[in-house]
Amino acid sequence: MSAGGTPAAARRLTRRRFIGAGSAVVGVGAIAAVGWPLLQGQGRPGHLLPSQVPLPRPYQVPLPVPPVLEPARSDGTSDSYEITQHQADLHILPGLRTRAWTYGGSFPGPTIVSRSGRRTVVRHRNELPQPVVVHLHGGHTPAASDGYPVDLVMPVSGGGDPMAGMDMPGMDGMPRMSGDIAHGERSYTYPVNQRAATLWYHDHRMGFTGPGVWKGLAGFHLVHDDEEDALPLPRGERDIPLMIADRSFAADGSFRYPAIDPAMHRAGVTDAYTNGVLGDVVLVNGAPWPVLQADRVRYRLRLLNASNARDYRLELSPQPPGGAAFVQIGGDGGLLARPVRHDALELSPAERLDVVVDFSRYRPGTKVRLINRFGSGPTSEVMRFDLSPSGRPPADDSHVPDQLSELAALDPGKAAVTRTFAFQQSEKGGWTINGELYQPGRTLARPKLGTTEVWRFVSDFHHPVHLHLEHFQVVSRNDADPGPYDAGWKDTVSLRPSEAVEVVTRFTDYPGKFMLHCHNLEHEDMAMMADFVTE
Ligand code: C2O
Ligand code: CU
Repeated sequence: MSAGGTPAAARRLTRRRFIGAGSAVVGVGAIAAVGWPLLQGQGRPGHLLPSQVPLPRPYQVPLPVPPVLEPARSDGTSDSYEITQHQADLHILPGLRTRAWTYGGSFPGPTIVSRSGRRTVVRHRNELPQPVVVHLHGGHTPAASDGYPVDLVMPVSGGGDPMAGMDMPGMDGMPRMSGDIAHGERSYTYPVNQRAATLWYHDHRMGFTGPGVWKGLAGFHLVHDDEEDALPLPRGERDIPLMIADRSFAADGSFRYPAIDPAMHRAGVTDAYTNGVLGDVVLVNGAPWPVLQADRVRYRLRLLNASNARDYRLELSPQPPGGAAFVQIGGDGGLLARPVRHDALELSPAERLDVVVDFSRYRPGTKVRLINRFGSGPTSEVMRFDLSPSGRPPADDSHVPDQLSELAALDPGKAAVTRTFAFQQSEKGGWTINGELYQPGRTLARPKLGTTEVWRFVSDFHHPVHLHLEHFQVVSRNDADPGPYDAGWKDTVSLRPSEAVEVVTRFTDYPGKFMLHCHNLEHEDMAMMADFVTE
């Protein structure tokens, strides 16, 4: 597809059609229409890494909710936070200690809450044994604070090799590039000129994002704004972020990970795991198969798939009478124009779905499991909501309005450029974009700030494709309508085998070097990333 042209498929997609997709009432039946059954079973990414300890019974521990971080300082325009990254012994499985890499001593890390329009500055201090990089996923962030994968924060202790991980398969003889190296600490500045949304922050070190996140480097970052505050949605203790992440445990209680080189001089996982690492324990907010004691009222659940490679298809069991258990109100980039009803939710790595569940539809005392239809055995269970046995639920004046947000649909017909990015496995080993293994400084696209572009992603395998800097709108899948989970603004799109997904975005505000990559973290570490430069 030539640069400068407008693809026929994009031209056919009108504004009306985009909005239509976002407001459709979609049940399980509609899924066949997008070709999903082909992909059940084979084609699902990843390989199971068994734990070396007995797994606990599900539904024995309460759901933790990560604490909200207090700012160290605030003034008229900004809030400053401080996070020390350090190892901590966590109690995740009964009777075992898990030595984790943490943001401030917990997994997930503390939740940062920002107000749209107020600058947020987060100073990270690295007391871990290895370099780190922090990325605010979904942030509209200037390049210097975006967590470019070689802009390392070296350990305070002075350990770790800044050039480790540069030896990707097929990269022999290529020039090594070091980034902007900070020693011990770095401040990341987020203007937060963006709408309310569920963002998250996580490690992004070149070659080692998979092990970094697996060991615990992930947390929520929520943005609020006036538009969202004005809606009668569930709030306070009825607005709960849920970080779903699978993990495996080694005999000593630590997180088990199949790194080729546990000392972290070389990046990558052992051969069986190059499609992605799957754990056999499902953690929600860091606890295995937890339970929330819930009232029979509406709850807002902000679901994040923080797994390295695992996909979920979530359902409530039992389903509420009449189905449509989940009313989706938002996605990666905040509120949808109108709510979308679902019987099931599909979530690939890094995606978020913001849903309201009305537990008053169940009888008092019902135990409602959140299950995963893409899992098997222990990974088919996620968490449970134990509803209060009392016949009279507390007051609930929340509801989900039919109109949630003014959502301007971008017009793909106005795109200045259409670019195609092919996500493929390399014969040399590793994962490529347009035939290239990632190399810092090699630019695959130069979008002009202030212009709209259509990006077309094509693939051989399942890849959750993530764009930094901007959210986008999905315009088509295989030249047909977007899928049931594509509504609204997104920053990560689930690209399935042999699919072509077109997205439209507008590049704004910040010139510099940003990332496009697969968010299957083993694919990302094995070089399925690209730079693009806005100018
Ligand atoms: Cu969530 Cu570039 O990553
Ligand atoms: Cu991938």
